[in-house]
Amino acid sequence: MHRPRRNRQTPAIRAMVRETTLAPADFILPLFLHEDAVDTPIAAMPGVTRWSLENLVREAGAAHALGIPAVVLFPKIDESLKSPQAREASNDNGLVPRAIRAIKAAHPTLCVITDVALDPYNSDGHDGIVRRNARGELTILNDETVDVLCQQALCHARAGADIVAPSDMMDGRVAAIRDALDAEDFTNVLILSYTAKYASAFYGPFRGALDSMPKEGDKTTYQMDPANSREAVRETLLDEAEGADMLMVKPAGLYLDIIAKVRETTTLPVAAYQVSGEYLMLKSAAAGGWLDERAIVLESLVAIKRAGASMILTYFAKEAATWLINESTGERATHSINSR
Ligand code: PBG
Repeated sequence: MHRPRRNRQTPAIRAMVRETTLAPADFILPLFLHEDAVDTPIAAMPGVTRWSLENLVREAGAAHALGIPAVVLFPKIDESLKSPQAREASNDNGLVPRAIRAIKAAHPTLCVITDVALDPYNSDGHDGIVRRNARGELTILNDETVDVLCQQALCHARAGADIVAPSDMMDGRVAAIRDALDAEDFTNVLILSYTAKYASAFYGPFRGALDSMPKEGDKTTYQMDPANSREAVRETLLDEAEGADMLMVKPAGLYLDIIAKVRETTTLPVAAYQVSGEYLMLKSAAAGGWLDERAIVLESLVAIKRAGASMILTYFAKEAATWLINESTGERATHSINSR
C-alpha cells in the first residue's frame, strides 16, 4: 500500500521534504510617507502608518535589521503640488528623492525601490496624463505619460534609487525607461516592472492611504481585466523583450494562477504584491478573533511563494520576518534539547 503519510510523520521529516520555505529575505516592505513631521495611522490598514521622513528612515532600518533586503516607497503628496502634468513627480527636491537620499545615507546596504506612476502627483488621480476627447470622454494618454515616467525614473535614479518599479501599465514604458536610464549612465539601476497589474478593487485601502483615487472614471483602460490570464503572458513577453530585470504580478493571493503562468513564461525573477485589500482581509479576520493571524499570514505568503514568486511585497514583512526568526531559533532550541 502507498502511504504518503510516512513523509509527514514528524517535524524533522516534514522539514526535510518541505518544497517551499519562507525567509525574511523573500520580503519587500512597502512604506508610506508624507511631508508632515508626525506619523499618521492609516485607518483602513490597521497597524500600517504613513511616516514622517525621520521615522521612515528609522522604520526602513528596523526592517533591514530583520533581514528584509528592500523597501518600496509610496508618497502622499500635498494637494497643492498636484497638477494635470504631474510635474512634481520629477522634482529633485521632492519628497521621494529626499527620502531615497535619507534612507541610503542611513542604511547604505538596504535596497530602495521606488514606484514609477503619476497617481500621487496627478490632480486627476490617474497613473497617466488625462485628456478629454471631443466627445468629452476621459482618455489616458499613453506616449505623453511615458515621457513623464522617464523623467520620474531619472529623478529617482539621480537620488540613488536601486530599483525603479513602473506600476502605471502604460505600453512601452519599460523600454523607454531603460533607454532613458542608460542614456544618463544609470546602467546599473534595475527595472522591476509591474507586468501583470490587474484593475483590482483590492487597492482600495492604498488609495485611501495616499488620497490617490481617480477623480473620475476608473483604471480599466490601462490595468488588466481580472478575467484574463493569457494577456499576462503577452505582457510578460513584452516586458522581458523591453529589458525588464524583474517582473511583478499584482494582486497576489487571488492571482496565484497568474504568478505560476508568469513563472513558467520567463527566466526573470518574479515578484508578487500582496496588496492593501489582501492585508485588510487577513488583518480584520484576525482582529475579530476569527482566524489565527500568524497562521493565516504565513500560509498566505508560502502559497504566493509556492506559486512561483521569489519576492513578495507585503505589509506583513516585519511581522512575518519576526515570526520566522523566532521559529528558527525555537527549532534550534528544540533540536538541542532532543539531541542531549
Ligand atoms: C499606484 C499603485 C497602486 C498600488 C501600488 N501602486 C494603486 C493603484 O494602482 O490604484 C496598490 C498597492 C496596494 O493596494 O497595496 N500606481
